[in-house]
Amino acid sequence: MIKNKPLSGKTAIVTGASSGIGRATALTLAMAGAAVAIFARRKDRLIKVASDIQAKGGKVLSFAGDASYPEDIDKLLEQTLQWKEGGRKYDIVVVNAGRGLAGGTLSSDHSQWEEVYNTNVLGAAYLIRSAAQYFVGRKKGDIVVVGSVVGRNISPFSAFYGSSKFAVNAIAEGLRQEVCAHGVRVSLVMPGIVKSEFQKVAGYNEDNFYKSIAHMGKLLKPQAIADGICWLLTQPPNVNVSEIMIRATGQNYP
Ligand SMILES: NC(=O)c1ccc[n+]([C@@H]2O[C@H](COP(=O)([O-])OP(=O)(O)OC[C@H]3O[C@@H](n4cnc5c(N)ncnc54)[C@H](OP(=O)(O)O)[C@@H]3O)[C@@H](O)[C@H]2O)c1
Repeated sequence: MIKNKPLSGKTAIVTGASSGIGRATALTLAMAGAAVAIFARRKDRLIKVASDIQAKGGKVLSFAGDASYPEDIDKLLEQTLQWKEGGRKYDIVVVNAGRGLAGGTLSSDHSQWEEVYNTNVLGAAYLIRSAAQYFVGRKKGDIVVVGSVVGRNISPFSAFYGSSKFAVNAIAEGLRQEVCAHGVRVSLVMPGIVKSEFQKVAGYNEDNFYKSIAHMGKLLKPQAIADGICWLLTQPPNVNVSEIMIRATGQNYP
């Protein structure tokens, strides 16, 4: 339980909030006092997350859309700026929507490459840029980009997906250098292996994934990443935790 609601008065946008890390982050930021605008494609799942947040006394706005469509991102930002309970502004954007893909350049399913890049790189970059333009104008704001440890250490079981996270990791640090003089913080969060719907969407199975990680013991739950995000957002304004890597203790690699 978070004491004293350190994010009260702030409005946070969380993409990919219908499941896993995004869902846990939306709930955690709401419990820390933020009004939360949640976004993902599956409307039924967003409605459930919204009702979980409201049941705990949180403020929530939900908007269904695709993170790889700039027009959906534009609508999400516009609606958040009109949301009375959110104060008609936003202070925090968690760029989390993304998907995995099993395999490397030879072994991954080529028909899914475009969706991986459109969501993980181009869609993320569009949201990052739109939020950064707004925050530079306000001279404050937080952009949290959910990258991956495989965006730093490429791994054989997800090398093609990892390349998309190398790209977004670079976009995040490049942006930090562009906007830090304007009072805007950019944080790159690199999760290790987290149990979520990610593995199923990526197409992981015993042979292409689970055998390689069997020795790692207890893996992370999404809450571990949500807690890290909440922690970095609650540092004093002059402290920018520009990157964190969070792995299960037994995860030796990547
Ligand atoms: N789990 C891991 O091991 C791990 C490790 C490192 C990094 N990550 C990163 O963490 C982030 C969250 O992953 P997760 O583990 O929480 O996976 P998850 O449980 O599968 O959640 C992914 C979320 O992203 C949303 N999403 C996917 N494509 C989207 C699109 N085109 N438009 C809008 N929303 C979209 C999904 O919602 P809808 O399907 O409803 O749209 C869902 O809410 C991703 O960026 C992932 O790459 C995960």
